[in-house]
Amino acid sequence: MAQPETERLSEIIVGALLTRALCTVADLRVADHIEPGSPKSTTDLAKAAGADERSLYRTLRCLASHGVFRETTTGEFDHSALSSVLRSHATGSFHAGAQVLHLVFAGVDGLDHVVRTGEPGFVKVYGKPVFDYMMEHPELAAAFDAGMTCFHGFETEAMLEAYDFGAVEVLADIGGGNGSLISAVLQRYPKMRGLLFDLGHVTARAKELLERNVVAERCRVIEGSFFDVVPPGADAYLMRHILHDWTDEQCVEILRHCRSAVPGHGRLIIVECVVPAGNDPSLSKDFDLLMMTFSGGVERTESEFRALFRQGGFDLASIAPTSTMVSVLEARPRKTR
Ligand SMILES: C[S@@+](CC[C@H](N)C(=O)[O-])C[C@H]1O[C@@H](n2cnc3c(N)ncnc32)[C@H](O)[C@@H]1O
Repeated sequence: MAQPETERLSEIIVGALLTRALCTVADLRVADHIEPGSPKSTTDLAKAAGADERSLYRTLRCLASHGVFRETTTGEFDHSALSSVLRSHATGSFHAGAQVLHLVFAGVDGLDHVVRTGEPGFVKVYGKPVFDYMMEHPELAAAFDAGMTCFHGFETEAMLEAYDFGAVEVLADIGGGNGSLISAVLQRYPKMRGLLFDLGHVTARAKELLERNVVAERCRVIEGSFFDVVPPGADAYLMRHILHDWTDEQCVEILRHCRSAVPGHGRLIIVECVVPAGNDPSLSKDFDLLMMTFSGGVERTESEFRALFRQGGFDLASIAPTSTMVSVLEARPRKTR
Protein backbone atom coordinates (compact mmCIF):
# COMPACT_ATOMS: atom_id res chain seq x y z
CA MET A 1 0.00 0.00 0.00
CA ALA A 2 1.17 3.53 -0.69
CA GLN A 3 2.73 5.45 2.18
CA PRO A 4 0.08 8.22 2.52
CA GLU A 5 -2.78 5.71 2.79
CA THR A 6 -0.81 3.51 5.22
CA GLU A 7 0.02 6.49 7.40
CA ARG A 8 -3.52 7.86 7.40
CA LEU A 9 -5.06 4.49 8.27
CA SER A 10 -2.41 3.96 10.97
CA GLU A 11 -3.28 7.38 12.38
CA ILE A 12 -6.97 6.43 12.58
CA ILE A 13 -6.24 3.07 14.20
CA VAL A 14 -3.78 4.40 16.78
CA GLY A 15 -6.23 7.25 17.44
CA ALA A 16 -8.14 4.89 19.77
CA LEU A 17 -5.21 5.16 22.20
CA LEU A 18 -5.22 8.94 21.94
CA THR A 19 -8.81 9.01 23.24
CA ARG A 20 -7.80 6.71 26.08
CA ALA A 21 -4.73 8.83 26.86
CA LEU A 22 -6.86 11.97 27.16
CA CYS A 23 -9.41 10.26 29.41
CA THR A 24 -6.71 8.74 31.66
CA VAL A 25 -4.87 12.04 32.07
CA ALA A 26 -8.19 13.74 32.86
CA ASP A 27 -9.01 11.09 35.46
CA LEU A 28 -5.56 11.57 37.05
CA ARG A 29 -6.27 15.33 37.15
CA VAL A 30 -2.82 16.05 35.71
CA ALA A 31 -4.05 19.40 34.35
CA ASP A 32 -4.96 20.54 37.88
CA HIS A 33 -1.32 20.20 38.92
CA ILE A 34 -0.04 22.73 36.37
CA GLU A 35 -0.52 26.47 36.74
CA PRO A 36 -0.66 28.06 33.27
CA GLY A 37 2.75 29.64 32.62
CA SER A 38 4.49 27.56 35.35
CA PRO A 39 5.58 24.34 33.62
CA LYS A 40 6.08 21.22 35.76
CA SER A 41 8.41 18.26 35.37
CA THR A 42 6.94 14.79 34.92
CA THR A 43 8.69 13.80 38.17
CA ASP A 44 6.50 16.32 40.03
CA LEU A 45 3.39 15.55 37.98
CA ALA A 46 3.73 11.78 38.46
CA LYS A 47 4.18 12.26 42.21
CA ALA A 48 1.19 14.60 42.47
CA ALA A 49 -1.08 12.43 40.32
CA GLY A 50 0.07 9.04 41.62
CA ALA A 51 1.31 7.83 38.23
CA ASP A 52 4.32 6.08 36.72
CA GLU A 53 6.76 8.80 35.69
CA ARG A 54 8.04 7.40 32.37
CA SER A 55 4.60 6.26 31.18
CA LEU A 56 3.11 9.61 32.12
CA TYR A 57 5.89 11.45 30.27
CA ARG A 58 5.28 9.44 27.09
CA THR A 59 1.53 9.96 27.34
CA LEU A 60 1.90 13.72 27.81
CA ARG A 61 4.44 13.94 24.99
CA CYS A 62 1.98 12.29 22.64
CA LEU A 63 -0.93 14.45 23.81
CA ALA A 64 1.24 17.57 23.43
CA SER A 65 1.93 16.56 19.83
CA HIS A 66 -1.85 16.77 19.32
CA GLY A 67 -2.17 20.16 21.01
CA VAL A 68 -3.17 18.98 24.49
CA PHE A 69 -0.43 20.37 26.85
CA ARG A 70 2.85 21.82 25.61
CA GLU A 71 6.27 20.32 26.23
CA THR A 72 8.98 22.91 26.89
CA THR A 73 12.54 22.64 25.60
CA THR A 74 13.57 21.44 29.07
CA GLY A 75 11.09 18.55 29.01
CA GLU A 76 8.55 20.08 31.38
CA PHE A 77 4.84 20.47 30.59
CA ASP A 78 2.80 23.66 30.46
CA HIS A 79 -0.77 24.27 29.40
CA SER A 80 -2.00 24.73 25.87
CA ALA A 81 -5.49 26.13 25.14
CA LEU A 82 -6.88 22.56 25.08
CA SER A 83 -5.20 21.28 28.25
CA SER A 84 -6.13 24.36 30.24
CA VAL A 85 -9.85 23.51 29.90
CA LEU A 86 -9.08 20.05 31.32
CA ARG A 87 -8.48 21.79 34.68
CA SER A 88 -11.46 20.88 36.84
CA HIS A 89 -12.10 24.47 37.99
CA ALA A 90 -11.39 26.26 34.70
CA THR A 91 -14.19 28.39 33.25
CA GLY A 92 -15.98 26.10 30.79
CA SER A 93 -14.02 23.11 32.12
CA PHE A 94 -14.16 19.95 29.99
CA HIS A 95 -12.75 17.77 32.78
CA ALA A 96 -16.03 16.00 33.55
CA GLY A 97 -16.58 15.34 29.83
CA ALA A 98 -13.35 13.36 29.56
CA GLN A 99 -13.87 11.72 32.94
CA VAL A 100 -17.32 10.31 32.17
CA LEU A 101 -16.00 8.46 29.13
CA HIS A 102 -13.08 7.22 31.25
CA LEU A 103 -15.55 5.63 33.68
CA VAL A 104 -17.29 3.59 30.96
CA PHE A 105 -14.50 3.36 28.41
CA ALA A 106 -14.92 -0.40 28.06
CA GLY A 107 -18.25 0.42 26.37
CA VAL A 108 -16.26 1.48 23.29
CA ASP A 109 -15.57 -2.24 22.71
CA GLY A 110 -19.29 -2.59 22.07
CA LEU A 111 -18.96 -1.00 18.63
CA ASP A 112 -17.91 -4.31 17.11
CA HIS A 113 -20.97 -6.00 18.59
CA VAL A 114 -23.46 -3.41 17.36
CA VAL A 115 -22.03 -3.41 13.84
CA ARG A 116 -22.26 -7.19 13.64
CA THR A 117 -25.65 -7.64 15.32
CA GLY A 118 -27.46 -4.28 15.54
CA GLU A 119 -27.75 -4.74 19.33
CA PRO A 120 -26.38 -1.94 21.56
CA GLY A 121 -22.77 -2.73 22.36
CA PHE A 122 -22.96 -1.29 25.89
CA VAL A 123 -25.36 -4.07 26.89
CA LYS A 124 -22.92 -6.67 25.60
CA VAL A 125 -20.05 -5.18 27.63
CA TYR A 126 -21.83 -4.08 30.84
CA GLY A 127 -24.78 -6.48 30.88
CA LYS A 128 -27.53 -3.86 30.81
CA PRO A 129 -28.64 -0.71 28.99
CA VAL A 130 -26.65 2.40 29.83
CA PHE A 131 -29.41 4.27 31.72
CA ASP A 132 -30.28 1.15 33.79
CA TYR A 133 -26.59 0.72 34.57
CA MET A 134 -26.38 4.33 35.72
CA MET A 135 -29.38 3.93 37.98
CA GLU A 136 -27.37 1.27 39.87
CA HIS A 137 -24.19 3.38 39.93
CA PRO A 138 -25.08 6.77 41.39
CA GLU A 139 -21.46 8.02 41.19
CA LEU A 140 -21.52 7.37 37.45
CA ALA A 141 -24.91 9.07 37.09
CA ALA A 142 -23.58 12.21 38.79
CA ALA A 143 -20.48 12.12 36.56
CA PHE A 144 -22.77 11.70 33.54
CA ASP A 145 -24.77 14.82 34.46
CA ALA A 146 -21.57 16.81 34.83
CA GLY A 147 -20.24 15.36 31.57
CA MET A 148 -23.41 16.35 29.72
CA THR A 149 -22.96 19.94 30.89
CA CYS A 150 -19.42 19.84 29.44
CA PHE A 151 -20.47 18.41 26.11
CA HIS A 152 -23.66 20.41 25.71
CA GLY A 153 -23.58 23.34 28.17
CA PHE A 154 -22.33 25.85 25.60
CA GLU A 155 -25.23 24.92 23.30
CA THR A 156 -27.71 26.55 25.69
CA GLU A 157 -26.76 30.13 24.86
CA ALA A 158 -26.67 29.29 21.14
CA MET A 159 -30.16 27.74 21.40
CA LEU A 160 -31.50 30.87 23.14
CA GLU A 161 -30.01 33.03 20.38
CA ALA A 162 -31.49 30.89 17.60
CA TYR A 163 -35.00 30.28 18.93
CA ASP A 164 -37.56 32.68 20.41
CA PHE A 165 -39.27 31.20 23.48
CA GLY A 166 -41.13 34.50 24.04
CA ALA A 167 -44.64 33.10 23.48
CA VAL A 168 -44.15 30.12 25.82
CA GLU A 169 -46.01 30.33 29.14
CA VAL A 170 -44.98 27.01 30.68
CA LEU A 171 -41.98 25.11 29.34
CA ALA A 172 -41.50 21.43 30.19
CA ASP A 173 -37.95 20.10 29.91
CA ILE A 174 -38.35 16.37 29.38
CA GLY A 175 -35.25 14.39 30.42
CA GLY A 176 -34.02 17.71 31.78
CA GLY A 177 -31.03 16.20 33.61
CA ASN A 178 -29.39 18.43 36.20
CA GLY A 179 -31.64 21.41 35.39
CA SER A 180 -29.01 23.65 33.83
CA LEU A 181 -30.96 24.02 30.57
CA ILE A 182 -34.36 24.93 32.06
CA SER A 183 -32.59 27.24 34.54
CA ALA A 184 -31.03 29.19 31.69
CA VAL A 185 -34.34 29.53 29.81
CA LEU A 186 -36.22 30.63 32.94
CA GLN A 187 -33.50 33.15 33.75
CA ARG A 188 -33.78 34.58 30.21
CA TYR A 189 -37.62 34.72 30.39
CA PRO A 190 -38.56 35.92 33.91
CA LYS A 191 -42.34 35.47 33.39
CA MET A 192 -42.09 31.89 32.12
CA ARG A 193 -42.83 28.94 34.39
CA GLY A 194 -41.09 25.59 34.05
CA LEU A 195 -41.44 21.90 34.64
CA LEU A 196 -38.51 19.50 34.75
CA PHE A 197 -39.14 15.80 34.22
CA ASP A 198 -36.51 13.07 34.64
CA LEU A 199 -35.82 9.79 36.41
CA GLY A 200 -35.99 9.81 40.22
CA HIS A 201 -32.26 9.44 40.81
CA VAL A 202 -31.61 12.55 38.68
CA THR A 203 -34.27 14.96 39.96
CA ALA A 204 -32.70 15.36 43.42
CA ARG A 205 -29.60 16.92 41.82
CA ALA A 206 -31.81 19.05 39.56
CA LYS A 207 -33.70 20.48 42.56
CA GLU A 208 -30.42 21.64 44.12
CA LEU A 209 -29.34 23.43 40.94
CA LEU A 210 -32.75 25.08 40.44
CA GLU A 211 -32.49 26.41 44.02
CA ARG A 212 -28.97 27.69 43.40
CA ASN A 213 -30.07 29.37 40.17
CA VAL A 214 -33.00 31.01 41.99
CA VAL A 215 -35.63 29.57 39.64
CA ALA A 216 -36.93 26.77 41.88
CA GLU A 217 -40.09 28.72 42.76
CA ARG A 218 -41.05 28.89 39.08
CA CYS A 219 -40.15 25.29 38.23
CA ARG A 220 -41.98 22.13 39.23
CA VAL A 221 -39.91 18.96 39.33
CA ILE A 222 -41.63 15.70 38.46
CA GLU A 223 -39.99 12.30 38.48
CA GLY A 224 -40.92 9.49 36.17
CA SER A 225 -40.12 7.76 32.92
CA PHE A 226 -41.09 9.10 29.51
CA PHE A 227 -41.77 5.51 28.53
CA ASP A 228 -44.72 5.54 30.98
CA VAL A 229 -46.02 9.09 30.69
CA VAL A 230 -45.08 12.68 29.89
CA PRO A 231 -46.69 15.05 32.39
CA PRO A 232 -49.32 17.52 31.13
CA GLY A 233 -49.45 21.18 32.18
CA ALA A 234 -47.11 22.95 29.73
CA ASP A 235 -47.67 24.58 26.36
CA ALA A 236 -44.18 23.81 25.05
CA TYR A 237 -42.20 20.60 25.53
CA LEU A 238 -38.43 20.74 25.16
CA MET A 239 -36.17 17.72 24.69
CA ARG A 240 -32.46 18.28 24.21
CA HIS A 241 -30.32 15.27 23.40
CA ILE A 242 -33.07 12.84 24.32
CA LEU A 243 -34.21 11.41 20.98
CA HIS A 244 -30.61 10.68 19.96
CA ASP A 245 -30.33 8.25 22.89
CA TRP A 246 -33.03 5.93 21.58
CA THR A 247 -34.02 3.70 18.67
CA ASP A 248 -36.72 4.83 16.23
CA GLU A 249 -39.32 2.61 17.92
CA GLN A 250 -38.48 4.00 21.37
CA CYS A 251 -38.55 7.58 20.04
CA VAL A 252 -42.03 7.04 18.60
CA GLU A 253 -43.16 5.81 22.05
CA ILE A 254 -41.69 8.92 23.74
CA LEU A 255 -43.20 11.21 21.08
CA ARG A 256 -46.65 9.63 21.44
CA HIS A 257 -46.50 10.28 25.19
CA CYS A 258 -45.49 13.86 24.39
CA ARG A 259 -48.40 14.09 21.95
CA SER A 260 -50.82 13.14 24.77
CA ALA A 261 -49.40 15.96 26.90
CA VAL A 262 -48.97 18.75 24.32
CA PRO A 263 -52.16 20.84 23.89
CA GLY A 264 -53.51 21.43 20.36
CA HIS A 265 -51.98 24.93 20.22
CA GLY A 266 -48.75 23.74 21.85
CA ARG A 267 -45.39 22.78 20.41
CA LEU A 268 -42.54 20.36 20.75
CA ILE A 269 -39.01 21.76 20.66
CA ILE A 270 -36.24 19.31 19.90
CA VAL A 271 -32.59 20.30 20.22
CA GLU A 272 -30.39 17.81 18.40
CA CYS A 273 -27.77 17.51 15.66
CA VAL A 274 -29.22 17.24 12.18
CA VAL A 275 -26.78 15.01 10.28
CA PRO A 276 -25.80 16.61 6.96
CA ALA A 277 -25.75 14.67 3.70
CA GLY A 278 -22.48 14.06 1.87
CA ASN A 279 -18.99 13.01 2.78
CA ASP A 280 -17.81 16.07 4.65
CA PRO A 281 -16.68 15.52 8.23
CA SER A 282 -19.27 16.42 10.85
CA LEU A 283 -19.04 15.90 14.60
CA SER A 284 -22.63 14.62 14.36
CA LYS A 285 -21.43 11.57 12.40
CA ASP A 286 -18.84 10.80 15.10
CA PHE A 287 -21.40 11.26 17.88
CA ASP A 288 -23.69 8.95 15.94
CA LEU A 289 -21.21 6.10 16.49
CA LEU A 290 -21.11 6.91 20.20
CA MET A 291 -24.93 6.78 20.37
CA MET A 292 -25.08 3.56 18.36
CA THR A 293 -22.54 1.90 20.67
CA PHE A 294 -23.59 3.20 24.07
CA SER A 295 -27.36 3.62 24.07
CA GLY A 296 -28.53 2.15 20.78
CA GLY A 297 -29.49 5.69 19.75
CA VAL A 298 -29.13 7.59 16.48
CA GLU A 299 -28.08 11.06 15.30
CA ARG A 300 -30.65 11.72 12.56
CA THR A 301 -31.02 13.48 9.24
CA GLU A 302 -33.82 15.95 8.56
CA SER A 303 -35.91 13.34 6.74
CA GLU A 304 -35.44 10.85 9.58
CA PHE A 305 -36.74 13.49 12.03
CA ARG A 306 -39.72 14.23 9.75
CA ALA A 307 -40.65 10.54 9.67
CA LEU A 308 -40.30 10.13 13.45
CA PHE A 309 -42.44 13.20 14.15
CA ARG A 310 -45.14 11.96 11.78
CA GLN A 311 -45.31 8.59 13.55
CA GLY A 312 -45.40 10.34 16.92
CA GLY A 313 -48.35 12.57 15.91
CA PHE A 314 -46.43 15.76 15.03
CA ASP A 315 -45.40 17.69 11.91
CA LEU A 316 -42.01 19.31 11.58
CA ALA A 317 -42.67 23.09 11.40
CA SER A 318 -39.19 24.63 11.29
CA ILE A 319 -35.49 24.02 11.81
CA ALA A 320 -33.32 26.80 13.23
CA PRO A 321 -29.59 26.12 12.96
CA THR A 322 -27.46 27.44 15.85
CA SER A 323 -23.84 28.51 15.97
CA THR A 324 -23.03 25.05 17.44
CA MET A 325 -23.53 21.55 16.03
CA VAL A 326 -27.16 21.41 17.22
CA SER A 327 -30.30 22.80 15.58
CA VAL A 328 -33.65 23.68 17.13
CA LEU A 329 -36.45 21.67 15.48
CA GLU A 330 -39.99 22.83 16.17
CA ALA A 331 -42.86 20.39 15.67
CA ARG A 332 -46.58 21.05 15.97
CA PRO A 333 -49.33 18.56 16.80
CA ARG A 334 -50.52 16.94 13.58
CA LYS A 335 -54.03 18.11 12.69
CA THR A 336 -56.42 15.21 12.21
CA ARG A 337 -58.84 15.72 9.33
C1 LIG B 1 -28.17 12.88 27.20
S1 LIG B 1 -28.94 13.34 28.73
C2 LIG B 1 -29.59 14.92 28.30
C3 LIG B 1 -29.85 15.77 29.48
C4 LIG B 1 -30.35 17.18 29.18
N1 LIG B 1 -31.57 17.17 28.38
C5 LIG B 1 -29.29 18.02 28.50
O1 LIG B 1 -29.45 18.37 27.35
O2 LIG B 1 -28.25 18.32 29.16
C6 LIG B 1 -30.37 12.27 28.77
C7 LIG B 1 -31.31 12.50 29.94
O3 LIG B 1 -32.44 11.61 29.78
C8 LIG B 1 -32.78 11.13 31.06
N2 LIG B 1 -33.54 9.88 30.91
C9 LIG B 1 -33.10 8.68 30.50
N3 LIG B 1 -34.09 7.77 30.49
C10 LIG B 1 -35.21 8.44 30.90
C11 LIG B 1 -36.56 8.05 31.07
N4 LIG B 1 -36.96 6.80 30.82
N5 LIG B 1 -37.46 8.98 31.48
C12 LIG B 1 -37.05 10.27 31.73
N6 LIG B 1 -35.76 10.70 31.57
C13 LIG B 1 -34.86 9.80 31.16
C14 LIG B 1 -31.45 10.92 31.72
O4 LIG B 1 -31.58 10.78 33.13
C15 LIG B 1 -30.69 12.16 31.29
O5 LIG B 1 -30.90 13.23 32.18
